[in-house]
Amino acid sequence: MPSQRETLLIVDDEVAIRQLLRRKLSGEVYQCEEADTAVQALNMLANSPIALVMLDIKMPGKSGIELLPEIKSGYPDTAVIMATAVNDINVAVECLKQGADDYICKPFNLDEVSLSVQRALEKRRLQFEVRDYQQFLEERVEEQTGEIKKLFLGAIEALVSALEAKDRYTGGHSRRVTEIALALGNELGLSVKDMEDLRWGSLLHDIGKIGIHQVIQNKPDKLTSEEYEHIMTHAHVGAYIVKPMLNGKISEMIEHHHDHYDGSGLHQVIAGNDIPLGARIIAVADAFDAMTSDRPYRSAMSIVEAIDEIKRCAGTQFDLAVVNALLKTAETATI
Ligand SMILES: [Fe+2]
Repeated sequence: MPSQRETLLIVDDEVAIRQLLRRKLSGEVYQCEEADTAVQALNMLANSPIALVMLDIKMPGKSGIELLPEIKSGYPDTAVIMATAVNDINVAVECLKQGADDYICKPFNLDEVSLSVQRALEKRRLQFEVRDYQQFLEERVEEQTGEIKKLFLGAIEALVSALEAKDRYTGGHSRRVTEIALALGNELGLSVKDMEDLRWGSLLHDIGKIGIHQVIQNKPDKLTSEEYEHIMTHAHVGAYIVKPMLNGKISEMIEHHHDHYDGSGLHQVIAGNDIPLGARIIAVADAFDAMTSDRPYRSAMSIVEAIDEIKRCAGTQFDLAVVNALLKTAETATI
């Protein structure tokens, strides 16, 4: 027996049949409504929730066969039982293929009608349960994915903090480079996905400095060429650190962020547009932040001086397109 009064709509042009079905089904705690045409049935479906339609196949005007697909597309949660004369069984079977839940034959065996209604409503309830469960599972997956992402981002933040704690002169450098790089990426029209990669690439671009000797990293004087070589290994070390946890594009950005556009950088193997765009963007953002920050051996340049210096190196050390993006970004004061 149903746990609540579900509404059934009996659609038949013969009043005697409607009344017969209503008497039987009302006695089984269903709420019964009647319609004598397809048009009236559609009106009633539009105005109140109907759990199940008992639909006569042959009616004047729009037939039950024509009405069935309209009900199924407009009200997919409504079950439909076709009512047919015995000699229409092939038509009734065709209706099942088009989404009807069952069919009953005239003259009706009222107990069979009752069973058919119970089965169709039970199937409908199960479909609701499956749908609710699917939705519950999707929500759980989304929740878990959010948690994993939060933990992952926390781990990256921790890595960046570990790097900045080790380097006494460049506190906040990675985060500032990220802001500048994203402004440049935006100016260059990067896709949402590429911007996301650029965010992680720039935040972690110097992460390889974790493997650099602290004395050399914090040396206030000019570096020897050996020390410089040692420091510059951080690009390769950083790419190696990041590779297992982020995608290959990000580790390549980190690997090449000190490459010179014209190929003249230390131990450089690629040049020009073969250098990943993210790396070319980080190179400019990195240089801009380094020049405009105080260092123990020199004070910060002004923004104008730093831009002039970067412009001077456009086409040699830096990609001209990225330098132009820096100029435009500086004009609109977004850095
Ligand atoms: Fe670097």
